[in-house]
Amino acid sequence: MHIITSPMALKDLVTQWHQQGERIGLTPTMGALHDGHLALIRALTGKASRKIVTLFVNPTQFNNAEDFHLYPRQHEADIALLQKTGEVDALYIPHKEDMYPQGFSTKIFVSQFDTMLCGADRPGHFEGVATVVTKLFLQTQADIAAFGEKDYQQLCLIRRLVKDLNIPVEILAVPTQREVDGLALSSRNRRLTPEQRRQATQLPAALHACLIDLRHQHPLSEALARCHTTLEKAGFIVHYLDLRKEETLEIAEKAEPHTRLFVAASLGNIRLIDNMPIF
Ligand code: PAJ
Repeated sequence: MHIITSPMALKDLVTQWHQQGERIGLTPTMGALHDGHLALIRALTGKASRKIVTLFVNPTQFNNAEDFHLYPRQHEADIALLQKTGEVDALYIPHKEDMYPQGFSTKIFVSQFDTMLCGADRPGHFEGVATVVTKLFLQTQADIAAFGEKDYQQLCLIRRLVKDLNIPVEILAVPTQREVDGLALSSRNRRLTPEQRRQATQLPAALHACLIDLRHQHPLSEALARCHTTLEKAGFIVHYLDLRKEETLEIAEKAEPHTRLFVAASLGNIRLIDNMPIF
């Protein structure tokens, strides 16, 4: 596995790969890798002949300085894990100065998805994501890139961005990977205390119960209200709990195919998100 830190060295490598007819698959990450990230890398098997993972804790997508500083960083363990999989051809760990040179003043704003759901309570977050992902697409010259459904809004936004800017990269969506008790894998889970980790199980459980209610034709507002109450009783502060259409993320009036439940809720200062399709 090549470990690359400079954009020039990356350019040389990907240019050479493309000249050799290779198809480049990208998995962008912020590190603190877990099985969710590994599932994205695995999903590219057979769809790309060379795989690049990027590891960059992107400062511009954190609207909260404390969250940025507390974000888990464990580069050595990440490198060892990727090496062990034997699936990754190159790991790109760019320097902040190369991603955001002095005087950096360009931002990508995807208006359709920027201000709803997580965009509403994390101002600037999705601009940071869209900008860094565009840069990673350009730098890696990826032919295909994998993104997790865990961050469904991010996935929608990236699909929109690629379409709008005619970026020649295929987007591969990978289902959410979960712990045995249902909690969606997330680098942030490491910050939960043992007590919070136990409470956290209630998030997918409540969402799943709501989904069953909706499948059994319970009125939407009642099902959502019940789920909201369950989460509050379990100790969460609920930021949003919505049924939305999968493609546009508009609020859905009723549970039907291609609608999804979306939730963001905090335990202490740790914000967790999850989503589940209705059918
Ligand atoms: P990060 O949170 O490290 O996630 C990297 C990728 O892994 C994202 O596509 C995310 O959706 C996916 N992922 C995380 N947990 C997952 C799970 N439990 N199941 C399936 N996929 C999962 O998302 C980011 O980083 C950043 O915003 C990034 C795109 C790298 C831009 O900085």
